[in-house]
Amino acid sequence: MKFSILRGTSFVHTLLSNKIKNGDVVIDGTMGNGHDTVFLAKLVGKEGKVYAFDIQPTSIECTTKRLMETGLNSLEGIQLLQVGHENIETYVKEEVNVAMFNLGYLPGGDHTLITKPNTTITALHSVMKLLKKGGLISIMIYYGHEGGTLEKEAVLTMLENLPSEEFVVIKTEYMNRKNDPPIIIIVEKK
Ligand SMILES: C[S@@+](CC[C@H](N)C(=O)[O-])C[C@H]1O[C@@H](n2cnc3c(N)ncnc32)[C@H](O)[C@@H]1O
Repeated sequence: MKFSILRGTSFVHTLLSNKIKNGDVVIDGTMGNGHDTVFLAKLVGKEGKVYAFDIQPTSIECTTKRLMETGLNSLEGIQLLQVGHENIETYVKEEVNVAMFNLGYLPGGDHTLITKPNTTITALHSVMKLLKKGGLISIMIYYGHEGGTLEKEAVLTMLENLPSEEFVVIKTEYMNRKNDPPIIIIVEKK
């Protein structure tokens, strides 16, 4: 994909691609339609591992299809887990380089199945523990739906209060875009 700030995902992928190399262990905390899982799988290659989480069976189906279309389905290191990301620590036991979260609902899916403040915050705390020094977490906060503002506020408050000796946190916002554009956060472990 050509780089453009028109899509927040393009912005995030460009940043993260500088951090991920062959053989790395990474997490997709919100698999959804599988775009980020495929992006991560390409970069870690057959030596690496991708742990992808979502609560919806349709996410697993859609992501499996997308991996097949790109010829990545044979990679043994990809685990598509129909499990809430609040359980990350049960499944991931090694240090990770990168973790991605896209908060909100599944585009084209059930708009009532949304990420929630408590489970998102539990997942973020887990990932911060597992993250290597210099590792990155990306969080795209979509909040235009019912319940979205509550989650946005909870996540922003938690991130604002992270100890600055341990983490660097950057927030990027669209300034002239209508209809609740996503907020993009990058966290780096020092
Ligand atoms: C904005 S979408 C993710 C889009 C995805 N990154 C992509 O590339 O298509 C948010 C996803 O979070 C999922 N979700 C909701 N609660 C979750 C939880 N507790 N753990 C993991 N995923 C969850 C939803 O089912 C939805 O698919």
